[in-house]
Amino acid sequence: MQEQLERRIAVVTGAASGLGLAIAERLAKDGAHVIAVDRDPSIENVAERLRQSGGSAEAAIVDLSVEDEIFAFAQTVTKRHGRWDILVNNAGISPKIDGKRVTTETMPMAQWHDVIAVNLTAPLILCRQALPIMRARGFGRIINISSRAGRTLVGTAGTHYSATKAGLIGMSRAIAGEGAKDGITVNCIAPGRFSTPMTEQGSPEMLAALKAAIPVGRAGRPDELGAMVSYLASDAAGFVTGAVFDINGGSFMG
Ligand SMILES: NC(=O)c1ccc[n+]([C@@H]2O[C@H](COP(=O)([O-])OP(=O)(O)OC[C@H]3O[C@@H](n4cnc5c(N)ncnc54)[C@H](O)[C@@H]3O)[C@@H](O)[C@H]2O)c1
Repeated sequence: MQEQLERRIAVVTGAASGLGLAIAERLAKDGAHVIAVDRDPSIENVAERLRQSGGSAEAAIVDLSVEDEIFAFAQTVTKRHGRWDILVNNAGISPKIDGKRVTTETMPMAQWHDVIAVNLTAPLILCRQALPIMRARGFGRIINISSRAGRTLVGTAGTHYSATKAGLIGMSRAIAGEGAKDGITVNCIAPGRFSTPMTEQGSPEMLAALKAAIPVGRAGRPDELGAMVSYLASDAAGFVTGAVFDINGGSFMG
């Protein structure tokens, strides 16, 4: 167990699965106390597994599409720990219809609002809750998980998803500017294709073709993203803010 993150308090959303799970595992391994957040009750098992592996962790079942639940969660963190050192806004959704991507014309407006709520409004609210506490302590690390679809055209992503992932980049830059003098860094990571439940939907042929189109010839491994989050969360990354990190096997070189 490394102690690079020295029991820092780290909130990770969407930690029950995929990239969020890998981020939670890595931060716990690096010594942070991880508050693993998800609407899926299996998040309790995630926290238990992290503890069994020698990490420090607790679970919070929160539906991030419900603003009152986010506020209640934030109050609990502040009361229990008195600090938020690291906030990883990872939870995200990319709804389809019958397994197919929606277009601007076929997208139901209800889906647009759902995606905005989870992918954009929830990170905003969590940042607003964390910022005053980070500012008071002179330290904060906010890492927002955007997407290659927020950087360039990704044909398989819907308009709602692409809009929120680009919006997260703009939002992160604005907050980075506000927090820079107070020891708070705010960065985005824009993953390309990683193997997770979100991206393993579709025919085997289609998935194989998508992977083959990646210059390094494979999808990313979630632990590779965890390593990048760990660096951005560390003291060593204090001069890195307002940046977007493409981690995509060479599939977009912006
Ligand atoms: N996997 C990829 O290739 C990829 C690529 C680019 C960006 N991303 C982004 O990375 C993040 C994680 O993606 P993933 O592939 O691990 O997805 P995933 O679907 O495997 O996991 C997402 C997690 O978020 C949780 N979640 C969803 N809605 C929630 C809500 N309302 N409240 C609380 N929790 C909720 C889910 O329960 C799930 O555990 C997302 O923001 C996604 O957009 C993923």
